[in-house]
Amino acid sequence: MGRKLTFEIFRYQPLDPHSTPHMQTFTLEEHPSMTLFIALNMIREKQDPTLQFDFCCRAGICGSCGMVINGRPGLACHTQTSDLPEYISLHPLPVFKLLGDLSVDTGTWFRNVGKRIESWIHTNKEFDPKAQEERMDNELATKIFELDRCIECGCCVAACGTARMREDFMGATAINRMARFYIDPRDNRTPADFYELIGDDRGVFGCMGLLACDNVCPKKLPLHDQLGIMRRMVSIESVRGILPEFLRKKLQGCSSHTS
Ligand code: SF4
Ligand code: SF4
Ligand code: FES
Repeated sequence: MGRKLTFEIFRYQPLDPHSTPHMQTFTLEEHPSMTLFIALNMIREKQDPTLQFDFCCRAGICGSCGMVINGRPGLACHTQTSDLPEYISLHPLPVFKLLGDLSVDTGTWFRNVGKRIESWIHTNKEFDPKAQEERMDNELATKIFELDRCIECGCCVAACGTARMREDFMGATAINRMARFYIDPRDNRTPADFYELIGDDRGVFGCMGLLACDNVCPKKLPLHDQLGIMRRMVSIESVRGILPEFLRKKLQGCSSHTS
């Protein structure tokens, strides 16, 4: 016989004028290898078909099941109940628009931030459909891939004190995304271009550096390192007119983006 788990789940349907935010209690017997994905589906199937939450891949890939689990943002499909106490509280991720109960709209937030930081390769090359794929050094390709693993789950944004206070803060996920373009030799943007996009208090200078983002990221992206690298790069860029060029280049010290 497994443990008896008690779930306290946030309930609220913002579009229903009769709905008010409240917590609802459910109990469930724990099974071996039970994840929160399994538990929530059992609750929905056997106890309350109106419970709203999001899942798609069940494998930590789609990023849709982020929620606050006992006060900490995480992926429900990747969380084993055996790693949690018998009492489990579940809330929707803050910062994002609440759709209902545990379901939030991360897509609109990520789409807006992607547009704001121009999250695509900027190149002057004409597109040639017949050209062979460009070769890239394996080591560099691995570095770029490492930063490209974000699944846009929103956990780092939900954990971020600045993002919770300011709607216009782009969060560690966007700064990590910029870092990915910064090291990509196919992207022609200069440090001055990156400075324009992230060099204010909506970007790197709004970050308080307490690293909750790094701590909760389920994909273990190196957010701490990238925040430091990008802050250093735009800080040097901000004193471009004062520093001698050779010193600025030496400090910037990175690949082809040292115009
Ligand atoms: S380190 Fe910066 S981006 Fe990360 S959670 Fe703290 S304020 Fe937010
Ligand atoms: S950086 Fe990590 S926590 Fe943030 S959205 Fe991407 S995968 Fe999720
Ligand atoms: S369901 Fe896809 S990451 Fe959890």
